[in-house]
Order: sequence, then structure tokens, then C-alpha cells
Amino acid sequence: MAGRCHVILIGPQGSGKGTQAARIAAPLGLVHVATGDLFRQLMTRDDDLAREVRSYYDRGELVPDDVTLRVLLSRLDELERAMPNYRGALLDGYPRNRSQAEALDRVLQDRGDTIAAVVHLAVPRAVLIERLSGRLICPQCGATYHRVFAPPRVEGLCDQCGAALVQRTDDTPEAIARRLDTYEQQTAPLLEYYRQRGLVLDIDGNQPIDEVTQAILSALEPVLGDPARCRSS
Ligand code: AP5
Ligand code: MG
Ligand code: ZN
Repeated sequence: MAGRCHVILIGPQGSGKGTQAARIAAPLGLVHVATGDLFRQLMTRDDDLAREVRSYYDRGELVPDDVTLRVLLSRLDELERAMPNYRGALLDGYPRNRSQAEALDRVLQDRGDTIAAVVHLAVPRAVLIERLSGRLICPQCGATYHRVFAPPRVEGLCDQCGAALVQRTDDTPEAIARRLDTYEQQTAPLLEYYRQRGLVLDIDGNQPIDEVTQAILSALEPVLGDPARCRSS
């Protein structure tokens, strides 16, 4: 199998990375890999690593880079074993700072993998706060809802698996503000890092969910079909 062909999703908290990844991954032949989801899974355990992650997560701070990279790599290794023919990962929430971006470049180079594109979801800050404060997630399967913009069919229950929906522990006003500041200071500058390599696709994330999905698919399909960008296609 030639190297994997990965896509990175970058956008502020609440821009719809998780929402869109759940819709576009399968049609594009990609596997959704979200470090936040991996941490939420990990935090259901009762051990030292879970406690360490929780101490950063609940405050809305970045988990240390070494821990995050280890969690990401173990998921990528798992995919190699479980899905030997997968095309690539749809990375949601990684990288979030310069050192993570450089670590990712090294790791992908070692594996013979490439980054086919970086999808940038742009949404104004006031809209983000409204989205995050109404978000509900399924603790069982990870599905995402919104009280107003994406309500479940039965109030309070997951459409996919029937579990009772909850608010995320980091969707408090303080943690939301801290996460958005960290995005501006550490993550948004990565767009320039990738723009210089011609990888960034800018998408207007401030539209209805279906329209954002269509915009991303239209932008990505030609890129993933281009053998110069994506060797494994
Ligand atoms: P993570 O889980 O990645 O959270 P985040 O970065 O805060 O991003 P969100 O999940 O909040 O935003 P989203 O863009 O996915 O929005 P969503 O689709 O849900 O990370 C959590 C934590 O884990 C971090 O704070 C950190 O502690 C740790 N972590 C993770 N990765 C790390 C890393 N690389 N390094 C270090 N630490 C890391 O949408 C939001 C809401 O809006 C939903 O309710 C949805 O229904 C609604 N919505 C979505 N799209 C639309 C639309 N178009 N119109 C109306 N409503 C919409
Ligand atoms: Mg998310
Ligand atoms: Zn569910």
C-alpha cells in the first residue's frame, strides 16, 4: 500500500469540525481521527493518565504535546492493523500548535504519508459562542447535537444509539473563552504554515450544516482525486 493521504481540519472551537467530519469522512474514504474524542474516551478510565488529561481538558487547556502525540500515534497504528487499505485520516483537532505541526510532518515523512489538504472552517467568534453553549453530545457514541441548530429527534436522546445526551465538561463559559484564545494564539498561525505549502482550502463555516458539507466535498474531491496531491488515490 502506498503512503496514506491525510486531510487536516482546522477551525476554531464550534466551527463544526466534528459535525462535518462525521458527514464527510466515509464518502471521501477517510477515517475520522479526533484527538478530543480520543481524550474523552480515555477520560472514562480511572487511572493516572486519565486524571492527567482531565486536569487540562476541563480547564480548556491544551494537553501536553508528548501525551497528545502518543495518543494520536497509537490510534494511527491501530488503524494500520484494523484497516490495512484505508486511504488516510481526517485529522480533527491535531495539530494545534507549531510544535505539533512539526511533529506531524516528521511522523508522516517516516511513514511515507502525505497531507493532501488542510480544510479551514472560518466562523466569527460570536457565532461560535452561541454554538458551543447549546451543544449536546452523546457520551456513548460521540454524536454531536445542538439544542436549536441540530436537535435530536427525541429531546435529550441520541438518534444513533438512544443514550441520554450531555453537555461537554469543557463547554463552560470560562473554558470556552480560554479555548478560543488558545486557538487565536497558537492554532490560527498554523494556517500560514500550511498556506505557504499551498495546502489550505478556505471554507465559509457560517452557513447551514448541509451547505458547509457540500462546500467541503466540492473543494476536497478534486484534490483527493489528483495523483500529484494524493499518491494513494
Ligand atoms: P476538541 O474535542 O477537539 O474540542 P475543540 O477544539 O474545543 O473543538 P470543538 O469540538 O469544540 O469544535 P468543533 O469544531 O468540533 O464543533 P462541533 O462540530 O462540535 O478538544 C477538546 C480538548 O481536548 C481541548 O480543549 C484540549 O484540552 C484537548 N485536545 C484535543 N486535541 C488536542 C491537541 N491536538 N493538543 C492538545 N490538547 C488537545 O460544533 C459545535 C456545535 O455547533 C454543535 O452543537 C453543532 O451541532 C453546532 N453546529 C456545527 N455546525 C453548525 C452550523 N453550520 N450551523 C449551526 N450549528 C452548527
Ligand atoms: Mg469537535
Ligand atoms: Zn449515541
